[in-house]
Amino acid sequence: MALLDKHAILEKSPTLLLVASLLVVSIGGIVEIAPLFWLENTIEEVEGVRPYSPLELTGRDIYIREGCYVCHSQMIRPMRDEVERYGHYSLAAESMYDHPFQWGSKRTGPDLARVGNRYSNAWHVDHLSDPQSVVPESVMPQYAFLAEVGIDGAYVDDLMRTHRLVGVPYTDDAIAAARVDFRAQADPDADTDGLLDRYPGAAVANFDSRPGVSEMDALIAYLQVLGTMVDFSTFVPDPSR
Ligand code: HEC
Repeated sequence: MALLDKHAILEKSPTLLLVASLLVVSIGGIVEIAPLFWLENTIEEVEGVRPYSPLELTGRDIYIREGCYVCHSQMIRPMRDEVERYGHYSLAAESMYDHPFQWGSKRTGPDLARVGNRYSNAWHVDHLSDPQSVVPESVMPQYAFLAEVGIDGAYVDDLMRTHRLVGVPYTDDAIAAARVDFRAQADPDADTDGLLDRYPGAAVANFDSRPGVSEMDALIAYLQVLGTMVDFSTFVPDPSR
């Protein structure tokens, strides 16, 4: 094999060997990396997944600020024990509008990916205010102060614009209506047609049953939407993926 014998040339010249290795490695690199620039999306889109409503998005910020992710994951793995305990395994699409994602790496408490609609709003108020009043052996801290802190959504449109910068498809209309939607979701007497049009399935309630919008309201609005966007009674995974 005359061609293979020529490797002696490469092996005898360190410079040539270096150049040739770089060439080989970059071809491998290009083949692996380049397609990612042309792929529209690496996430299968799933019907029902929508951006968070202004109140939910605010609640999500409170969730991050309070470090709830330190004890709670939001990612159900496709293993039998997890699926039987928490429900359908998490889909990538379900966290496509999460910046940053809240998958977490520690479960001192249970996974929260599908906690939405599992408990009543009143249960959440009791539990967040004093977890030991509902689960006596709980090591979860008390967050009663959240109900005392009023919020008016003054910066919620800026927050939505920031999320739009990183790819969440908030429309100009949605941002213009942000403060109205923010208040409407925590007020069962408000006109919520616009809100529910933009954010189907959003839980509308005075979550903490106190006047005004509090951090508690926002956090519970967020918890109640977790894992509820996809209708798993009709969901069929795409086998080609
Ligand atoms: C020190 C760890 C810790 C932190 C921090 C923590 N939790 Fe928990 N959480 C737990 C534990 C343990 C449980 C299980 C016992 C219980 O229900 O209280 C739990 C349970 C829960 C449940 C009920 C879940 C279910 O399926 O029964 C919710 C909802 C919840 N936590 C929300 C939160 C939120 C929101 C925050 C942040 C404001 C938070 N937790 C912060 C430890 C924690």
